[in-house]
Amino acid sequence: MKYATNGTSPNTAVVGLQWGDEGKGKIVDLLTAEHDVIVRYNGGANAGHTVEVAGERYALHLIPSGILNPGKRNVIGNGVVVDPEKLLEEIDRLRSRGVKIAENLQVSDRAHVVMPYHKEQDAALEEFLSNVASSERGSLAIGTTRRGIGPAYADKINRSTAIRMGDLLDAEYLRDRLRVICRLRTAELKALGVQAPPLDPDALAERFAKLGDRLRPHITDTVYALHDSMRTGKTLLFEGANACLLDIDHGTYPYVTSSNCSTLGIPPGTGVPGNNIGRILGIMKAYSSRVGAGPFPTELLDETGNLIREKGREYGTTTGRPRRTGWLDLVAVKYSSMVCGATGVACTLFDVLAGFDELKICTQYRMADGSIVDRFLPDARMLAKATPIYTTFKGWTEELRDVSDRKSLPINAAKYLAFIEEYLGIPIEMVGVGPDRRHTLVGV
Ligand code: GDP
Ligand code: IMO
Ligand code: MG
Repeated sequence: MKYATNGTSPNTAVVGLQWGDEGKGKIVDLLTAEHDVIVRYNGGANAGHTVEVAGERYALHLIPSGILNPGKRNVIGNGVVVDPEKLLEEIDRLRSRGVKIAENLQVSDRAHVVMPYHKEQDAALEEFLSNVASSERGSLAIGTTRRGIGPAYADKINRSTAIRMGDLLDAEYLRDRLRVICRLRTAELKALGVQAPPLDPDALAERFAKLGDRLRPHITDTVYALHDSMRTGKTLLFEGANACLLDIDHGTYPYVTSSNCSTLGIPPGTGVPGNNIGRILGIMKAYSSRVGAGPFPTELLDETGNLIREKGREYGTTTGRPRRTGWLDLVAVKYSSMVCGATGVACTLFDVLAGFDELKICTQYRMADGSIVDRFLPDARMLAKATPIYTTFKGWTEELRDVSDRKSLPINAAKYLAFIEEYLGIPIEMVGVGPDRRHTLVGV
């Protein structure tokens, strides 16, 4: 029997395989050259993607990391939660550095809006949880970025209290909705202990209608725009924000973000079906890092952890918080590769590992009852009971910044990468040896 197939799609997805900050921005910027449209499908201004080009450093939060490449289209899909003020700040900041932003940026009319009260709710809930829970069974606070992400997605699911980007273009409709929403929100914020005057719906409606006016040239039906692009032979590059282990369904719940940041979020977050993604490049650091609360079996709370933090400049791009650091956890990465359907990986920040006598990679966990497991435990309570079992590797002293191809890597560095490839069963297609676009070894 014959079957129809989709052939091989030329579209690519880039996704983080750990807890974020794997260097996705740099890889997206690099792959932009081979694609026409760069698409964000999830998250919001909680993301911080760094791109370095010729000594210039750019931090992107809402705008896709393809924006620095002239002639490419950048799309903020319907699955993103957009803080219009932050977006306009980002546009202004980039323009002031000579980056063109005009018809090359499109924002979905169906993307949900992060309102000021979402950020207040986010902060107030985190404060409330930090205070009440500290005397009980540890804090329930997540350590969010306080960018209003959770409350904005909660409103999306609640429906009646949500505002979408398209709504900003209709001042009257916006005001009517806000009159109801503000009544509810004022009461909720008061219950969370926020001492503030009641929310003023008319002032808020006026302020957000103005923001809508400024963003009007960019707001459009991105679902049709993306399908029109594909029909005319253009290729798409999907840029994941956050990372698979922070995925609301498949991450270390409840210490996760509020969207599907794995590649599973691409179809709902863009309106492009999954069979239009041919290549899925998972991004993994050569070690591990995590910001915010939640279990982290290979965390290093010692001098080695500090050394990795300093060498890797492991401070948040969005909040400036020091990132927690630890050895590479391949049980976690293999799980993420499986969930995301990774066809290859990029191993980033490899240069950071130079100069250690020995390096460790976690390949299994020992549980509290002595049993050994080689499966990830995507539940915070279970994962907190896992102790890593390590394979130890000899280190290397040579700095890697100036290495230009994989064959020239020190032998111990090559062995470290070969072990990762063997364990994951998929090729390492890129190796990051420095923050700049050019510090990337491409090829298997
Ligand atoms: P993202 O959120 O996944 O885009 O990653 P971030 O930008 O938050 O964090 C990654 C950090 O590592 C940034 O400061 C990048 O400039 C930097 N970076 C990316 N790749 C490399 C690499 O291969 N080596 C080094 N040393 N730094 C890198
Ligand atoms: P990029 O795209 C690292 C973490 C937060 C917190 C949890 C929930 O730069 O890799 P949220 O504000 O989303 O409700 O916070 O998720 N988090 C990230 N950590 N990198 C990110 O994005 C993150 N986005 C969210 O620190 O623990
Ligand atoms: Mg980041």
